[in-house]
Amino acid sequence: QELQINLEQIEKGGYDHFMLKEIHEQPKAITDTYRGRLLRNEALIKMAGIEDNLNKLLNANRIIIVACGTSWHAGLVAEYIFEDLARIPVEVEYASEFRYRNPVITENDVLIAISQSGETADTLAAIKLAKSKGAFVFGVCNVVGSSIARETHAGAYTHAGPEIGVASTKAFTTQVTVLTLMALRLAKAKGSISNSDFHRHLLELELIPQHVENVLKSDSHIKSIANTYKHSNNCLYLGRGYNFPVALEGALKLKEISYIHAEGYPAAEMKHGPIALIDENMPIVVIATKKGHYEKVVSNIQEIKSRKGKIIAIVTQGDTTVKALADHVIEVPETLEALSPLLNTIPLQLLSYHIAVLLGKNVDQPRNLAKSVTVE
Ligand code: G6P
Repeated sequence: QELQINLEQIEKGGYDHFMLKEIHEQPKAITDTYRGRLLRNEALIKMAGIEDNLNKLLNANRIIIVACGTSWHAGLVAEYIFEDLARIPVEVEYASEFRYRNPVITENDVLIAISQSGETADTLAAIKLAKSKGAFVFGVCNVVGSSIARETHAGAYTHAGPEIGVASTKAFTTQVTVLTLMALRLAKAKGSISNSDFHRHLLELELIPQHVENVLKSDSHIKSIANTYKHSNNCLYLGRGYNFPVALEGALKLKEISYIHAEGYPAAEMKHGPIALIDENMPIVVIATKKGHYEKVVSNIQEIKSRKGKIIAIVTQGDTTVKALADHVIEVPETLEALSPLLNTIPLQLLSYHIAVLLGKNVDQPRNLAKSVTVE
């Protein structure tokens, strides 16, 4: 028994939990994921799975992304980036809904399946269905040689390394990294991105690990915010555009490990329902970084403020407008809008982690959840 405890401590590399270790591994995981693929000096992105199937991907009528849980959120981020940069129509589906919906799939569709474990039963079934209709299926998996990796026609691995904590962290940011590389690669081939924009994205993507490192330094500040709100019964997460999926992911993290009810919403939809929930007991996490609908998010924050909600805002370093309105701010470095989910997710992971730990919950193995769901 003692030996086992010691082994586990060694595996956790000095961190209290796998989840915290994995949150801190993200700079390395992201670097490992773009290494050898992002070739800035040559102004190129090279991904074997794409080069070999470039025409199929470029000629796709649409891309259908299927996934579950956190991987589905990575798919939602990808929808914004593929449409924005590569101008390819994208639909994102829960694998469990897609497979039973009698979906319209043709040979001109490309299905991208995203899965950390590569073993999720619903995602695997969705792949088989799409293949039977003649679609080209591309996998984005973390586990090498997994069922989904084997079942797909081609793919690109994330290089997150083993993820042990049930709540997914580094798998998410590396999935977003791979999908961003794919979107940029296709955009370049299609000519839907200018050379200078392409180059700027490469440059900024390369800087992300360093920026994540920077965000991780806010750990003790985030812990003190966690302490203030740990006894809340509910929490709302708001974001717009690229950061709407980040709001969903932030809420999912909180639910999974702290068992606090949380909902993610597109900030503008707040007035169609959730605004009724806002009072002085409701903490609201708002992603309010500079690029992308900033002014609109600021006015959403004012609406919350006038109803006495407590605002925890994720802002760009140096922001003063939101700082003056919010109860708490967590700063992140400036980056391109398309890359902002990679940074804005990090404080939300830490916030959930600290709330769960302060409440004495089992963060690595939350009740009722499994790391990989191999039954439907
Ligand atoms: C489970 C895990 C989640 C994960 C989801 C999809 O619910 O607890 O963390 O996001 O499955 O898993 P996959 O391995 O397909 O990404």
